[in-house]
Amino acid sequence: AMAEKAGYKHFMLKEIFEQPQAITNTVRGRINLETGEVVLPEITLGEEDLRAIERIYLVACGTSWHAALVAKYWIEKYAAIPVEVDIASEFRYRSLLVNERVLTLAISQSGETADTLAGIRRAARLGSKVITICNVVGSTMTREADGTIYTHAGPEIGVASTKAFIAQLAALFLFTLYLSQLKRSIPVEHRRRLGQHLIDSARVVQELLPKIREQIGTMIESFYQCRDFLFVGRGLNYPIALEGALKLKEISYIHAEGYAAGELKHGPIALIDKDMPVLAITPKDSVYQKTISNIEEIKARQGRLILIGTEGDTQLEKITEDVIYLPAVHEDLNPIIYTIPAQLLSYEIAVRRGCDVDQPRNLAKSVTVE
Ligand code: G6P
Repeated sequence: AMAEKAGYKHFMLKEIFEQPQAITNTVRGRINLETGEVVLPEITLGEEDLRAIERIYLVACGTSWHAALVAKYWIEKYAAIPVEVDIASEFRYRSLLVNERVLTLAISQSGETADTLAGIRRAARLGSKVITICNVVGSTMTREADGTIYTHAGPEIGVASTKAFIAQLAALFLFTLYLSQLKRSIPVEHRRRLGQHLIDSARVVQELLPKIREQIGTMIESFYQCRDFLFVGRGLNYPIALEGALKLKEISYIHAEGYAAGELKHGPIALIDKDMPVLAITPKDSVYQKTISNIEEIKARQGRLILIGTEGDTQLEKITEDVIYLPAVHEDLNPIIYTIPAQLLSYEIAVRRGCDVDQPRNLAKSVTVE
């Protein structure tokens, strides 16, 4: 049966608005907020095997790869295990340093993407342990892995991934907390608090969605006809800049690039002029001042800035009139919150340009051929 759009104009919009539920369903029953304990029973690997893991490869394609890039920051910070992030089509053909103390974690909405599947098969053959984070029950990857952490985002119809991505972030944060528990790398109370922040992020997203959509709806009038777009961010939000640029490319066909803010001076700054919109992710985090310096350089070259930052940060309004404010959350959960405006901006621009948002040209929901 055809899934319903439930009154929304597109599946993509419906799925963007289902994100609070996707977080809640993915986290439910997996954290005990009294004891700080994380339980992931679908990982059939023994705890001893997991505790022995010395290195992790995160392997994925597209939007799922962006979730992997965020997870590297989390796992290295809280579980103190070195992480490498690979695009699956590269991973499957390069030389790998793998043994049974290496974990390959494949992230895939569908569980069927050809390159990611080939990647885990190769890693497993070389002796790696394999876990998947997946949204489709019984998909090929889940059948082949030593364990699966399901994202409970529900079926995703829009070709451009939204709620599956947010659920992947939630699952990866959970997995980070689980590793920290096995490794005893952070105190129990710290883990409990981080778990609470993750759960709370669902409510924060719920509250900001309608507000931000309305604000972006009016803002895009002066941007939707542009030919190029830059998205910039630092740290955990650098992958979110990549994801924003990918969303815009996928559904509006505007050329967009995501960049690490500190890397602008090594190339993209040459592109900045009054016709170049730059969306910058500038939360009040530990790299805030650094990002602001990069933003000032864009402003000095007349770039058209859109800033997404923290409520109450009046500094931002002095830089540009296009500011989107988001509530302050735990710094490490900013990627979940800051993804929302990037998705909505892409969606509203694509609709304004008359594009087929749910079925963009040349793209497939699941790429099962190489
Ligand atoms: C396709 C889809 C993307 C998705 C990517 C990876 O390109 O259009 O939305 O991110 O495949 O898919 P997966 O199912 O492995 O997450």
